[in-house]
Amino acid sequence: MAKPRVVFVLGAPGSGKGTQCEKIVQHFGYTHLSAGDLLRQERNDPASEVGQLIHNYIKEGKIVPVEITCGLIEKAMVKSGKSKFLIDGFPRNHDNLSGWNEQMGEKAEVAFVLFVECPEEVCTERILKRGQSSGRTDDNIESLRKRFNTYTKETVPIVRHYDQLEKVRKINGGTGRTPDEVFEDVKQMFQ
Ligand code: C5P
Ligand code: MG
Repeated sequence: MAKPRVVFVLGAPGSGKGTQCEKIVQHFGYTHLSAGDLLRQERNDPASEVGQLIHNYIKEGKIVPVEITCGLIEKAMVKSGKSKFLIDGFPRNHDNLSGWNEQMGEKAEVAFVLFVECPEEVCTERILKRGQSSGRTDDNIESLRKRFNTYTKETVPIVRHYDQLEKVRKINGGTGRTPDEVFEDVKQMFQ
């Protein structure tokens, strides 16, 4: 059997990763796995032994150890029975990247990284708006500052790493652009 094909989707919090992933799923038949969603699901499971740990990391905008996150991702990949995946919000730091390479390097093919660019002010405005109804413990200004800090310090270098491998496809998800306008550009990357 062919190795599963993976597209990583990276960008700042509020850049529109999840929104674009939903559209990619509809048009191109990928299976969308959000690392953040998988972690939140695990946190909400009363039987989980790592629920409290995940809760603390998310609130502080810190990146959960890869053993947990990559374990959840692989489990979801296997359970889906599918072979084309969008993995959104991963790998977010060096630990994520090396853990993935160790655990999944031989098992999956990373086709490219879709990088959604968006200025911080635009992201902030979107997240604070989302926070009014998302119920997320980290969609508030205090957590958001920490998430941006983590993004700049830890995630941007990962994008740079993939850029050096010529695996980054960058799109403009920023100022004044509607999700549909952004998707017009995203489409080109998948055809
Ligand atoms: O991508 P999303 O905004 O849903 O991620 C929310 C939080 O989940 C992150 O701020 C981080 O605490 C955690 N997370 C993580 N490792 C990932 C993805 C998300 O620790 N690879
Ligand atoms: Mg998301």
